[in-house]
Amino acid sequence: MPTAARPPLRHPLRLGVNIDHVATIRNARGGDHPDPVRAAEIVARVGGDGITAHLREDRRHIRDADLRRIQEATDLPLNLEMAATEEMLAIALAHSPHAACIVPEKREERTTEGGLDAAGQHNHLAPIVARLSDAGIRVSLFIEPDARQIEAAMRLKAPVVEFHTGRYAHVEGEERAAELRRLADAAALAWKNGIEPHAGHGLTYDNVIPVAAIPQLAELNIGHYLIGEAIFTGLETAVRRMRDLMDEARG
Ligand code: PXP
Repeated sequence: MPTAARPPLRHPLRLGVNIDHVATIRNARGGDHPDPVRAAEIVARVGGDGITAHLREDRRHIRDADLRRIQEATDLPLNLEMAATEEMLAIALAHSPHAACIVPEKREERTTEGGLDAAGQHNHLAPIVARLSDAGIRVSLFIEPDARQIEAAMRLKAPVVEFHTGRYAHVEGEERAAELRRLADAAALAWKNGIEPHAGHGLTYDNVIPVAAIPQLAELNIGHYLIGEAIFTGLETAVRRMRDLMDEARG
């Protein structure tokens, strides 16, 4: 019997561009410029594979109305990052994004500072994952690259996990090498069990290649650094450069 929908080991690595921080800059002045929709259109034009947007509880960057506008502006799949709350579930069901990535969310944090405790929150997450899946939305869980969390994702029947690369990005030397091994082992374990592994957080031109070289990874979601680089070089150049580095990593 063939195993579950396991992708071929070497498959193209997709780039999802997180456009939240275009909205952060827009919101700093309370107007409508710069518009994250324009960023989504540029990403589509230069060969990005998806748009990622995190609708936070406090709406500090992406806002409700942005979601529909992004969906209408491009054909790229929308990956909606969301906390596991009834409010966000209702919004996801109303918008039917291609994917919903469930992330832990604390109002006081600057960004998503760690992975979801899928193992500890099974009972809370199970109905949310089921309702999203029943609606045809591809559920991803943003977890640490950790066997216990992958096993929890399997029990939750999540088709995708995204590994939090924040720790990899923030440590150096031997510690970074150890984190990279942890990511590679986790990607292999997820893949072996029919779960599609993605990765993201804190990825830059300088640190993306070793992660992109992990053969089981199918998608990287990258935001803050690309939007920061876009200030200096333009978003088109920044996305193309990241794409080139990812392609280089895959040989
Ligand atoms: N993936 C997920 C699930 C995230 O929450 C974030 C940050 O919001 C990213 C990817 C992108 O991280 P960064 O902005 O550091 O590239």
